[in-house]
Amino acid sequence: MGHLKLMKVLVTGGSGLVGKAIQHVVREENGAKEGEEWIFLSSKDANLMDMGETRAVFEKHRPTHVIHLAAMVGGLFKNMKFNLDFWRNNVYINDNVLQAAHEVGTVKVVSCLSTCIFPDKTTYPIDETMIHNGPPHESNFGYAYAKRMIDVHNRAYFQQYGRCFTAVIPTNVFGPHDNFSIEDGHVLPGLIHKAYLAQKEGKPLTVWGSGIPRRQFIYSLDLARLFLWVLREYSEVEPIILSVGEEDEVSIREAAEAVVEGLGFKGEVVYDTSKADGQFKKTASNAKLRKYQPDFKFTPFKQALKETCTWFVDNYDTARK
Ligand SMILES: NC(=O)c1ccc[n+]([C@@H]2O[C@H](COP(=O)([O-])OP(=O)(O)OC[C@H]3O[C@@H](n4cnc5c(N)ncnc54)[C@H](OP(=O)(O)O)[C@@H]3O)[C@@H](O)[C@H]2O)c1
Repeated sequence: MGHLKLMKVLVTGGSGLVGKAIQHVVREENGAKEGEEWIFLSSKDANLMDMGETRAVFEKHRPTHVIHLAAMVGGLFKNMKFNLDFWRNNVYINDNVLQAAHEVGTVKVVSCLSTCIFPDKTTYPIDETMIHNGPPHESNFGYAYAKRMIDVHNRAYFQQYGRCFTAVIPTNVFGPHDNFSIEDGHVLPGLIHKAYLAQKEGKPLTVWGSGIPRRQFIYSLDLARLFLWVLREYSEVEPIILSVGEEDEVSIREAAEAVVEGLGFKGEVVYDTSKADGQFKKTASNAKLRKYQPDFKFTPFKQALKETCTWFVDNYDTARK
C-alpha cells in the first residue's frame, strides 16, 4: 500500500466558501485518490476556539493531513468594527488546531493566510518573504496579526519537532457558498447581492468607495484545486502565494462592471465616496507558484464571476447573506 492510500484528511472550516469548493473538487472532480478519507468539519462539529473540543475532534479522527481553513472572516467594514474579536478568535483557533494536530501526530497541515495581512507600506509586487516586514493596514490589524502568527507557529513546529506545517496565501477569494452579506461580506459577494436587490427594486447599484482600488481575485474552485496540489506535493514550511498573475489585477470599478454583466443588471451604477476604500492595492507575485505550476490554468475572471452570480440567483433563499 502506497503512502497516499493512508491519507486521512481533516478539513477545518469545511462548510465555508473555500471548504465547500474543496468538497466539490474532492467529490465531483475526482480530486480524492483511491483509499483516501476526507472529513469536512463545521463549527457544529467542534468550536475550535475551545481547546477541549478541538482535542476531542482531533482524537476522534486522528488525521494524517489537515487543511486548516476555520477562521473568523469578513470584509473591510466588519474588520474595522471588530479588530479585537478578529485577533482573539483567530489566535485561539490557530493555536488550538495546530497543537491538536501536533498531539495526534498529523504529518502535514496546510493553513490559510491572506494577502491582506501584508505590510501596508511595502514595495510591489508583494512576495512570500515580506509577511513580517512592517505593520498591516490599520483597518484589519487584528485579523492580520493573528494570521501572521500562523507562520510563526509553522516555523516553530518545524524547528522544535520537524513538523511539515505550512500555509498558503490566497488573494481575495470568491465563488459559490460565499458570505453574500452586504454589511459584513467581501467586496464581490456584497456587490452581487446589492446588484441583485437593485435589479429587483429598480434602483441604482451603489458601490461603496471610489472604485479605484485594485485587487487580484481567485475563484474558489481554482484555489481548491491548488490546495490539493499543496497538500500532496509542496514540501516547504515557508508559505506560498496562490494568486492569478499581476496582469490580472482589476479595479473595483472593473469588478462592479463584471457583476453588472454577470447578473444582467440594467440600472445605473453610482459610487459612494463617503465610504472607505481600504488598502489601495496589494498586488501579489505568483512567481513562486508559477515556478512549481507553470501550466495551471485559472478560470477567466468574468466566467468565474458569472458562475458565481448564477449560483447566487439559483440559491438565493439558502445562501448566506
Ligand atoms: N474569503 C476570502 O477572500 C479569503 C481570502 C484569503 C484567505 N482566506 C482564508 O480562507 C479560509 C477560509 O475562508 P472562507 O472565506 O471559506 O470563510 P467562511 O466562508 O467564512 O468559512 C469559515 C469557516 O470557518 C468555520 N469556523 C468559523 N469559526 C469557527 C469556530 N470557532 N470553530 C469551528 N469552525 C469555525 C465556519 O464554520 P460554520 O460554517 O459552521 O460557521 C466555516 O466553515 C480562512 O482561513 C480565511 O482567512 C479567505
